[in-house]
Amino acid sequence: MKLYVCKNYDEMSAKAADVVASVITLKPDCVLGLATGSTPVGMYKCLAEMNKAGKLDFAGVKTYNLDEYYPIKASDPQSYRYFMNKNLFNNINIDIENTHVLNGEAPDTDAECAAYDKAIEAAGGIDIQVLGIGNNGHIGFNEPADELVAATHVQGLTESTIEANSRFFSSADEVPKHALTMGMAPIMKAKRIIILISGKGKHAALKEMLSGGITTKNPATILNLHSDVTVVCDEDAYNG
Ligand code: F6R
Repeated sequence: MKLYVCKNYDEMSAKAADVVASVITLKPDCVLGLATGSTPVGMYKCLAEMNKAGKLDFAGVKTYNLDEYYPIKASDPQSYRYFMNKNLFNNINIDIENTHVLNGEAPDTDAECAAYDKAIEAAGGIDIQVLGIGNNGHIGFNEPADELVAATHVQGLTESTIEANSRFFSSADEVPKHALTMGMAPIMKAKRIIILISGKGKHAALKEMLSGGITTKNPATILNLHSDVTVVCDEDAYNG
């Protein structure tokens, strides 16, 4: 794993944006795997600024997001589709038809997930996958468990994730109890992975991942099996 320890959140965001921008510059029709949550917001802001300044072109870029709550309407301000439109897609010159988020209203979730994995393959696979990490080591919504699921699937959220995500809702009761999430296979098939990690709350999960061991109790540790992972964290996350 390539590790960058940045002074603070803003430096982390700028460094991560540079890495993603270099992929887009080298391959203007690349496929990005994207994440939501508070961690990548600063990076999305930097990417949008580069686009506005005419330094980065998203016209040929395709995106696939990691996950979406279930059930949820795309128009719900808590949905990940809404989040992506607001924090990135509405602020860059991407064709919205080229942006993909799992459908939180899909009547047949298994069919939705299977079609998503096929669509990623048909697009040529993900050139760079952006990840955040849960306090418990989850990536996407692949939660710690005895077994991890390879394919994109419906996932019940753990109490700790519902609690962590309740900050975006008026109460924990309103957090959907399920999500559709890319499984470990589409994540690990990405040609390159960048994981952004900020804040003291992520310290334990980060340290365990960097120790090089692999356990399904911390799904991010599986990234140790991938040959091209860039970790961009801040000092709070690194030092605890
Ligand atoms: C979001 C996602 C999640 C988050 C993780 C960290 O698409 O896949 O795994 O990356 O929950 O969330 P934040 O950044 O809010 O701490």
